[in-house]
Amino acid sequence: MMYKKVLIIAIIIKLSGSLLVFGQTGNIHLSWTGKSKPDAAHTMAINWNAYVSNSIVRYGEDSLQLNFTKRVKPIEVFNNGVRSYNYKLRLSCLKPGLTYYYQCGSEGSDWTAIYSFKTAPIQGSQDKYVVGVWGDTQNNTGNLRFEQTQKVIRLMTKYPLNLSIHMGDIVENGSVENTWYQFLKVAQPVTAIAPFMPALGNHDVNNKANEAGFQKPFSVFYNSFNLPRDNLNYSYDYGNIHFVVVNSGFAQGAAKEGRTLMQKGSTDYNWLDRDLASAKKNKNITWIILYAHYPIYSFGVSHVPEWQYNLLPLIDKYQVDLCLTGHRHVYERHKAIRNGKEYQQTDPMHYNHPTGTVYITNGSSGGSLQGLGGNQMSSIIFTAKEKVYTYAIMTVHGPKITYDVYDINNNKIDSFSLVK
Ligand SMILES: [Fe+2]
Repeated sequence: MMYKKVLIIAIIIKLSGSLLVFGQTGNIHLSWTGKSKPDAAHTMAINWNAYVSNSIVRYGEDSLQLNFTKRVKPIEVFNNGVRSYNYKLRLSCLKPGLTYYYQCGSEGSDWTAIYSFKTAPIQGSQDKYVVGVWGDTQNNTGNLRFEQTQKVIRLMTKYPLNLSIHMGDIVENGSVENTWYQFLKVAQPVTAIAPFMPALGNHDVNNKANEAGFQKPFSVFYNSFNLPRDNLNYSYDYGNIHFVVVNSGFAQGAAKEGRTLMQKGSTDYNWLDRDLASAKKNKNITWIILYAHYPIYSFGVSHVPEWQYNLLPLIDKYQVDLCLTGHRHVYERHKAIRNGKEYQQTDPMHYNHPTGTVYITNGSSGGSLQGLGGNQMSSIIFTAKEKVYTYAIMTVHGPKITYDVYDINNNKIDSFSLVK
């Protein structure tokens, strides 16, 4: 009898053990969040998934002493019918420019490895910042399991990233929950160590013009991400940089319906107008960097004149320095342009106080490769000579930006500087 009891207990422990292995805590992605512009110097959102409903964060300034704990009510989610819980937790009252250590998990279940992040410096600080730039990681042909994206991620983790920004088309089909969870799992080495602040692409949002959610993401996105404002159009400051993120929705399809986003006088347009005006006036801000999915300067079907028409007046008016986009799975870089006039430069690798905005398409961090860039556009100053998967490392140091672009074999394919 006693033996049977011991055996039953052993089986229960064994079963619990296997459940624990199954119930791995993960998909960690850091971000900044808030109803308006977040305070990146004093806050950090930690977002993760677990198969238990009592997962928490423990954190501290010393990796050996994670003395603080914080919990948040989870969101019950289902992935292929399997229940789990998403956590979106915001830490506040952090110190600027400081490294914090953290892990997610719960007593009696599993704990993740200990990760670290660094809070943003105080606004206006002119230190050196490293930003990972990627886009179009969508899981289509050649990247069905994000295998190309995984190579990009491995390379990006070698840099001391302060944050990473994504140009959208994160997944191939935004309505398929499983692909978001797959992406977040694959991306964790980058997104758990530095805030991940994406723009959304046409593949991430609802493309059906007859549905109420047209050009908006699906519930799986809202349940997983924890970004500022409405998660789609938002801005944040990091040191001396003002980043502004704009949702271009399904620009190509929307144009046919007369529903291109950011139309003059719309709520979003007015928000962007106010946001850029305030950044331009802010003496602490050296750089204004705008990113979105659809390019402003492009060709073929990627060029949506209505999208360009809506955005350009604000980009020109507030003298945005850098406009980063994706959508076309190529890497291409344009001359600086303002009010339709191309800034002429002697050195193609150096923009010296340019009168204009530098436009770049970074759309190939995994999604199937498309043609080559630079099809007979006078503004193109550089494009990769062959089809190539890429990511970029942007280093901002005071009044200078250095932008290095690499392929997935770690060859540098472009490097330029921008000084103001
Ligand atoms: Fe796209």
